[in-house]
Amino acid sequence: MSTVAPHKFAGVYTSTDGEYTSLSTKSLVPGVSVYGEKLVNVGQDEFRIWSPRRSKLAAAIKKGLAEMPIQPGSKVLYLGAASGTTVSHCSDIVGKGGVIYAVEFAPRSARDLVQLAASRTNVIPIIEDARHPTRYAPLVSGPIDVIYQDVAQPNQATILCENLKTFCSFGAWGMLAIKARSIDSATSLDKVYNKEIAELDRRGLDVVENIDLEPLERDHRFVVCRVTEDVT
Ligand SMILES: C[S@@+](CC[C@H](N)C(=O)[O-])C[C@H]1O[C@@H](n2cnc3c(N)ncnc32)[C@H](O)[C@@H]1O
Repeated sequence: MSTVAPHKFAGVYTSTDGEYTSLSTKSLVPGVSVYGEKLVNVGQDEFRIWSPRRSKLAAAIKKGLAEMPIQPGSKVLYLGAASGTTVSHCSDIVGKGGVIYAVEFAPRSARDLVQLAASRTNVIPIIEDARHPTRYAPLVSGPIDVIYQDVAQPNQATILCENLKTFCSFGAWGMLAIKARSIDSATSLDKVYNKEIAELDRRGLDVVENIDLEPLERDHRFVVCRVTEDVT
């Protein structure tokens, strides 16, 4: 029999089934498995198992994330939504009082995202290029509390800064999954990470966490930063 207990982060749960313990979120749309994830029913509630092998945010939590800015009620701008795997768990976490503006530019993934949003009213799909925030600014009702970014692009720190500048004010958070091999396939991983983090720092962000996602996700770092002064 499965048991579920609240995790230290609001909106996140720990499900235990025999010797197995997994992260999970309480489903906003019971009865629906979004991408084949296991559903666990406890009392009146349904929980969706959240695998750290399928989601870098779950991997970061497993690897000891200290700050979780995405909380019940948060307004999140999610860049690189793909088909909505992690978006769907963020949608569970922020709940009906929050919103996820989910940006994705690949047509096939965007179709799945639009379908996801049909049953999750707190997900607003935006079919756009995250490198051009001014194009989708009219669709986003700010200010945004958290920007979560997971895009395979060469200039990942710059994209995050441009979006933070456009949508956020003091106290807002950035969460960035740095995919090293999309930036540079020849340079050492540490050099690539350090260059992106230096860019965040140079532009005025306070980098508060820097987590290596190995072995859950290869060649990725997960960085949490905060807007504490004007982003240049
Ligand atoms: C690694 S996948 C994201 C996975 C997703 N975050 C999850 O955990 O469910 C990266 C996604 O970023 C999208 N992407 C890359 N560059 C982008 C851009 N400039 N604007 C919007 N989406 C972009 C890709 O099409 C791809 O779907």
